[in-house]
Amino acid sequence: MKIAFLSSEVFPYAKTGGLADVAGSLPIELNNLGHEVKVFMPKYNLFGEVEHGLHYQWSIGEIPVRVAGKVHSVHVHTAKLPRSNVEIYFVDCPYYFHRFTVYTNDHDEDERFILFMKGTIEILQRLQWAPDIIHCNDWQTGLTPLLLKENYGWDKLFEKTATVFTIHNVAYQGRFSKETFYKAEIKEEHFLHGGLGEYEGGVNFMKTAILTSDVINTVSETYAKELLTPEYGEGMQDYLRMRQNDLYGIINGIDYNVWDPEKDVLIPFQYSKENLSGKLQNKKFLVNHLGFEFNEDVPLIGIVSRMVSQKGFDIIGYALNDLLQLPAQWVVLGGGEQHYEDMFRDVANRYPNKFYFYRGYNNELAHLIEAATDIFLMPSRFEPCGLNQIYSLRYGTVPVVRKTGGLADTVLDWNEYLAQGKEIGTGYSFNDYTGYALLLSVQRAINDFHLKDVWYKIQMNGMSKDYSWKKSAEKYIELYKKAVIKVRSVK
Ligand code: ADP
Ligand code: GLC
Repeated sequence: MKIAFLSSEVFPYAKTGGLADVAGSLPIELNNLGHEVKVFMPKYNLFGEVEHGLHYQWSIGEIPVRVAGKVHSVHVHTAKLPRSNVEIYFVDCPYYFHRFTVYTNDHDEDERFILFMKGTIEILQRLQWAPDIIHCNDWQTGLTPLLLKENYGWDKLFEKTATVFTIHNVAYQGRFSKETFYKAEIKEEHFLHGGLGEYEGGVNFMKTAILTSDVINTVSETYAKELLTPEYGEGMQDYLRMRQNDLYGIINGIDYNVWDPEKDVLIPFQYSKENLSGKLQNKKFLVNHLGFEFNEDVPLIGIVSRMVSQKGFDIIGYALNDLLQLPAQWVVLGGGEQHYEDMFRDVANRYPNKFYFYRGYNNELAHLIEAATDIFLMPSRFEPCGLNQIYSLRYGTVPVVRKTGGLADTVLDWNEYLAQGKEIGTGYSFNDYTGYALLLSVQRAINDFHLKDVWYKIQMNGMSKDYSWKKSAEKYIELYKKAVIKVRSVK
């Protein structure tokens, strides 16, 4: 199959969260399964990180793209995703993308991604490359299926092309005023009341994608079910119910070339399931580096996260004073909403001997935390998939999570299974979104940490899990086939 894969972020070129990890690895696995994949992303011009590892191979020159009535000159550069033969196309429009962050609160955020979508379609036309599948990810690509279906000036190239839309997070929808549809030059009927793209009087990219893609999926089976409820659907539940027969859940895989303690070049001591001594050395290294006293028997607890309410920082806040009374040391990495950052900064000031907070983004430290800590905390309010807990499993770092979305699908609670006589648990999980439930689970983890045999068993159970992309990529191929059959049987 020929697959065009569209994403607003792709590791290692630009990353704000797990979408980048997925977009940097799933296409490679699809290619390994024998399919031809081209990846498309905007060419940002951030300081440093974006240019990392980038060697342009060729440029297909200039393409004019019209957004909001104005024509912009788009340049297109290509390269290969690292360690692969997969071509990535960078849609380069300095006017929209040469800014300080990947996403912005600027007045033209809608225009930026309209340009990306239209630019991508124009590139496909220039190449005369008709994909079987256009795989869109999240709202930044959400108008693509409608743009294609309505055939806005494109030729017949895409007649047999099917669209797949993956929801990585329904909370970010791309909601704008109704002017946005004029900017995209999509027919007025679609944004009149009740139209495909209209939502509460404005334009909603996510809703548009849900109602116009041939097939929809999200990144875990549990989240696919949760999405249909008002509690998790964020207003999209009714539209998703309308599309229930075309909605699937496929758990994300992990790029074990990047996230594996045996190969990880970003940690000082590599280690494996067979020999965990490197893990302890990493712990010692990090603990010393943070200026704490090293004691093998004091558990080190880690958090790596965007600091937004999705990730459970409210309940961490409720439990924080009690958590700090527990015999443990803490290392927290993340950035986001000011009040959460302030909360951690304050704790780090009050407990300099046991609590360290690094504000911001730091890929090396993220790897070191996975490798060095004993326990990884991820008490999300909702979590479509979640990658960090899966990295933790591989690194022998025991996750404590709230039982929701992908966290529920990937972490097996030790005590729950033990009660059934099964020693198959890989971590700890709790249901209630409360500081109290969180505290009890962290306590359970710390208690078991001191039972060396039990702890070792839990670590081994986690490290033995295989979340490599192959299985999930095969499921995507099945999904693509369903989308193709749908399109070809209609036309
Ligand atoms: P989400 O995409 O919702 O943020 P995921 O768990 O799917 O959550 O993915 C988060 C990814 O971003 C992981 O690869 C994680 O290591 C990384 N990450 C999050 N915050 C930071 C940070 N402050 N510094 C470095 N990496 C981070
Ligand atoms: C989103 C979700 C996260 C998921 C990631 C990749 O950012 O919040 O749960 O792992 O996308 O699919």
